[in-house]
Amino acid sequence: MKTQMPGTGERFRTLKSPTMQHVDSVPPYQRELYQRGARGHKPRVPLHFDQLQERARQQFSARAFAYVAGGAGQETTQFANRLAFEDWCIQPKMLRDVSVRSLKTTIFGKEWRSPLMLSPVGALGLLREQADALVARAAARCRTPMVFSNQASVQMETCAALMGDSPRWFQLYWSKSNELVASLVSRAEACGCEAIVVTLDTPLLGWRPRDLQLGSLPFARAIGLAQYLSDPVFQSYLDEVQLRPSGPITLAALEVFYQACRNYGGSLWQNLRTRRPLKAVQQFVDIYSRTDLLWSDLKFLRKHTRLPIVLKGILCAEDARLALDAGMDGIWVSNHGGRQVDGARTSLNALVEVVAEVRGAVPVFFDSGIRAGADVFKALALGATAVGLGRPFALALGLAGEEGVVEVIENTLTELDLTMAFAGCCDLEGIRGHRLLRNE
Ligand code: FNR
Ligand code: LAC
Repeated sequence: MKTQMPGTGERFRTLKSPTMQHVDSVPPYQRELYQRGARGHKPRVPLHFDQLQERARQQFSARAFAYVAGGAGQETTQFANRLAFEDWCIQPKMLRDVSVRSLKTTIFGKEWRSPLMLSPVGALGLLREQADALVARAAARCRTPMVFSNQASVQMETCAALMGDSPRWFQLYWSKSNELVASLVSRAEACGCEAIVVTLDTPLLGWRPRDLQLGSLPFARAIGLAQYLSDPVFQSYLDEVQLRPSGPITLAALEVFYQACRNYGGSLWQNLRTRRPLKAVQQFVDIYSRTDLLWSDLKFLRKHTRLPIVLKGILCAEDARLALDAGMDGIWVSNHGGRQVDGARTSLNALVEVVAEVRGAVPVFFDSGIRAGADVFKALALGATAVGLGRPFALALGLAGEEGVVEVIENTLTELDLTMAFAGCCDLEGIRGHRLLRNE
């Protein structure tokens, strides 16, 4: 009798087992793209990030493109975020059984389809009507968590209602009014958000030459203010606002005023007459954030929510330690996509340091520079618990709405799944155990 190759019998039994679910030799979404292509239907958005961005440059308004694509200063950190991924490489492994794979994970007690989520991206109203609502629909269709931005253009309740039981979080900018903070957080709880992400790296808006060159601030046109305008606490402040004298009235200034009145919602005529939208913009600028916030202030948030709190913008071991000491439930390593501090260290470089400090005590989330599935793999292999996609989904939203966002998510997840297989891993545990090689 011929001796059996070691493991063959076992493998054969596994393949036959009715309880095991088998992944096709072609992942369904990859198959779908080839099949659609064969019928003459091309993807709606380019798969390569550079082409995605180039198409957006051609099609977006100058202001919209500057806001999404731009970063702080000379954009060296934004660029370096990408280069940092090239410092690491994946080690493909052969002849591992990768026939059954899963990207599933559990975060704060909730099962996620994969460790990919959509980072909070504000002012998407620059790109499309109903922007955040389209993203919410796409996220729910892909069962990929969405983080509602504090600067969204559609209020959180509307987005949540479109998502069924698909996971969502709320991202908070800590305003000068604790009453407003408490109100936003309780609304987030009420509409089913499962964590509060406090973004710490934007106590002031970064120095962004592309926007400055155009004199463009979306919020001045009441774009990205939906969470405020729909908030009873914020609205109650507007009754008291005295408008400060503005400069000379020019055609451009009138246009901004008109836009603000349109974006504010309700009766345009009433808005033009009462100038309430201008009051809202002024009030927003006055209270949007605090530059005197301290670690000790986090107690307030802890008292006002039962949800897990995640701190976004942590970039070193020291701050990670302070977050743990403050009893926070998660840390989100991010440099805001290079939009805040030009010359700041890369997010990926900081991830390694933070993961080593935290040692699994709390989940460590990551974003800044993720462009495709292979990047997600690298971040996970370096210890991230889950990873946020930013600019790619925003650009896709502008180009092709809900369908564009779905495509970007599915492209990313399918490449992640394939990369996992080629690296000889079948699940997240495998990815986390995968040692990346340092490119010298
Ligand atoms: C952002 N980001 C962001 N972060 C946040 O906490 N609240 C917000 O409202 C926004 N708004 C926002 C707008 C735009 C246009 C961009 C590009 C980014 C930062 C975002 O959550 C994430 O950290 C970055 O997008 C990650 O960088 P990359 O991967 O997109 O380059
Ligand atoms: C930005 C703010 C809204 O990055 O977070 O534009």
